[in-house]
Amino acid sequence: MALQLGDTAPDFTAETTEGTIHFHEWLGDSWGVLFSHPKDFTPVCTTELGEVARLKGEFDKRNAKVIGLSVDSVSSHDDWKKDIEDATGNKLNYPLIGDDDHKVSEAYGMIHPNANDTLTVRSVFVIGPDKKVKLTITYPASTGRNFEEILRVLDSLQLTSDYQVSTPVNWKDGEDVIIAPAIDDESAKEKFPKGFRKVKDYLRFTPQPNR
Ligand code: BEZ
Repeated sequence: MALQLGDTAPDFTAETTEGTIHFHEWLGDSWGVLFSHPKDFTPVCTTELGEVARLKGEFDKRNAKVIGLSVDSVSSHDDWKKDIEDATGNKLNYPLIGDDDHKVSEAYGMIHPNANDTLTVRSVFVIGPDKKVKLTITYPASTGRNFEEILRVLDSLQLTSDYQVSTPVNWKDGEDVIIAPAIDDESAKEKFPKGFRKVKDYLRFTPQPNR
């Protein structure tokens, strides 16, 4: 069965462009973003990997480690790195897993045989410091992902884990958040000293607590 939210992210040992990684140990207390791309030396993947390198500082700010994967070897990744820098202007600054034996992609269900029986799809797994899967996304090979969206989701996940709030449609960092219905109005007054706006009994907005 496919990995689901709340499952423990499978641990593995793998060769990467930054040496051998024992995944859970490498994550330590950080959040993790593990993403697969179908194949080296392909156009959409080249743009994605360059973009993640450009955004690396944003992931660092959120205490999140990024790691990519494809079913090609580390030596192929090493050759491709030069192209990624040439094409996007961004030098790869995070590890890429060589998964030519499909060990990791099978553990994470990144190969969808009815799409392609050998290449990985574009999967994203966000993993919490407790090593549980917090988010899964699957895109087809032809559609490049939006990594700004992954940052937005990390902001939301981290708020939810630190405060009893959730985030509304199209929410962005800095905007009002929603107080969990389990908190009654009296407790909400104490917990959210900036106050709240009640639209319905079950829909109460408060300014982002960590701002
Ligand atoms: C790409 O990155 O452009 C790509 C990779 C595999 C299949 C289709 C497109």
